[in-house]
Amino acid sequence: MSSVIFGQVVIRRSDEMIYKNFVGGVWHECASGEVFDNINPAHNGQVISQFQKSAKVDIDRAVEYAESAFRYWRKVPAPKRGEILFKAAEILVRDKECIARGMTQEMGKTLAETRGDVQEAIDMAYYAAGEGRRMAGETVPSELENKWCMSIRQPIGVIGAITPWNFPIAIPSWKAFPALVAGNTMVIKPAEDTSWSVIKLAEVLIEAGIPAGVFNVVTGYGPTAGAALLENPKVKMISFTGSTATGKIVATTCAEQMKPYSLEMGGKNGIVVMDDADIDLAVDGVVWGAFGTTGQRCTACSRVMVHENIHDEFMEKLVERTKQLYIGDGLGDGVNVGPLLNKKALDKVEKFVTDAKNRFAHQGGGKLVYGGSPMLEPTEDTHGWFFEPTIFSEVDINDELMQEEIFGPVVAVTTFNNINEALWMVNNTKYGLSAAVYTSDVNFAFTALSDIEVGLCYINASTIGAEIQLPFGGIKGTGNGHRDAGSSMIENCTEWKSCMVDYSGKVQKAQIDH
Ligand code: UN1
Repeated sequence: MSSVIFGQVVIRRSDEMIYKNFVGGVWHECASGEVFDNINPAHNGQVISQFQKSAKVDIDRAVEYAESAFRYWRKVPAPKRGEILFKAAEILVRDKECIARGMTQEMGKTLAETRGDVQEAIDMAYYAAGEGRRMAGETVPSELENKWCMSIRQPIGVIGAITPWNFPIAIPSWKAFPALVAGNTMVIKPAEDTSWSVIKLAEVLIEAGIPAGVFNVVTGYGPTAGAALLENPKVKMISFTGSTATGKIVATTCAEQMKPYSLEMGGKNGIVVMDDADIDLAVDGVVWGAFGTTGQRCTACSRVMVHENIHDEFMEKLVERTKQLYIGDGLGDGVNVGPLLNKKALDKVEKFVTDAKNRFAHQGGGKLVYGGSPMLEPTEDTHGWFFEPTIFSEVDINDELMQEEIFGPVVAVTTFNNINEALWMVNNTKYGLSAAVYTSDVNFAFTALSDIEVGLCYINASTIGAEIQLPFGGIKGTGNGHRDAGSSMIENCTEWKSCMVDYSGKVQKAQIDH
């Protein structure tokens, strides 16, 4: 079993940095023997590790193991399954720093944020462990004498999870821990850019005592490994977090097989700042929401609606505060904003920004007030995929910057002059994940909570930072009615069974007049 811990130094290519798939309780190479590189986004010449480039045959083998382990695992009492997760939580606490450092090298966000990512996994493990002693069903009255009616929750079977790179251990944990405590087995195909974090999760679960075949990790690319997981009929449910484009593929493939699936996809999350708001608080919320995780959260704030009475003061403070951000390798002391994930992510952000600059120069409809360029000149801290935190103002609400998910450190600001306009603007998007309102008016706060069309709604706090004991997910183009974490976590990965026991000892029939 490989357990290389990433250090600050370049790790040279060697056998020890080649990670294997974890299948049936054993570390396996993929059938083709091919591997792919993982590159540190803050130091773009640095290959930090290699992973198995798995294909259908590797996925199918993992599913076989998961299917046979399911026959055993579903019978293990749920409190016992919960104990394994409790141990996993303790191991995650012990290894938090090591995992956080490896994650920063793997995908770039700052150490404070990767520590927070591991903390979400810890919280989820403790929460799911407790669920092993709850997982309540219902007992309801019967129409008949001496008959009991109960409903129980049962696991679905093998669950396939396709997990994203921006929360490399938190989101796999949201999906895996509830599924495991409920008695399902799992095959996870992590995002290729963050395979290490999920392999680390496997190591944690192994040490915690997870039986062979219950939790399997197969690394590789979406069109091959990911597609094979969707298509395998022995996979009884798919849980996906990622782009809307891939989500559509998940939906259509699963629909063909009548396979249940849960989707968490894009967001275009707005912050409304009223003229009675604490402006410093709101500025902080926008900076953290827009530039935290380099804007690479599906909950990131990428659009701001400010009351016209306070626009100038707000903009001045926003730009001042943004200027103070320190951009660099996420492992560095005092770094606030890390790099983007990779070249493709940088190119995408650059295209949005360049197109907007050109559009505004020729047609108006917005203006660049801060940033706007990649940081390609290598400095002591920047020789990776860095992009300046970027602010546009006076942006038309229908402009691309206000409507499309950019997934980078770019925020567009506009103004409104009454509450109805603010609510209309924040809802004017095809997505429905997160939104925030800064106000001191309690009536408007509750109106916003009621009327904003999202799955997560904040008052006087930014659009990011949802906690695991609440359901996480969105409506409209963001999701398909499912939620990760929170009270819905068991709901997502179990089936109801209604159980009826007639202990009257006589013939009794429901729906027949007696
Ligand atoms: C995501 O961006 O995909 O609420 C998840 C938050 C984090 C999770 C974000 N707890 O911002």
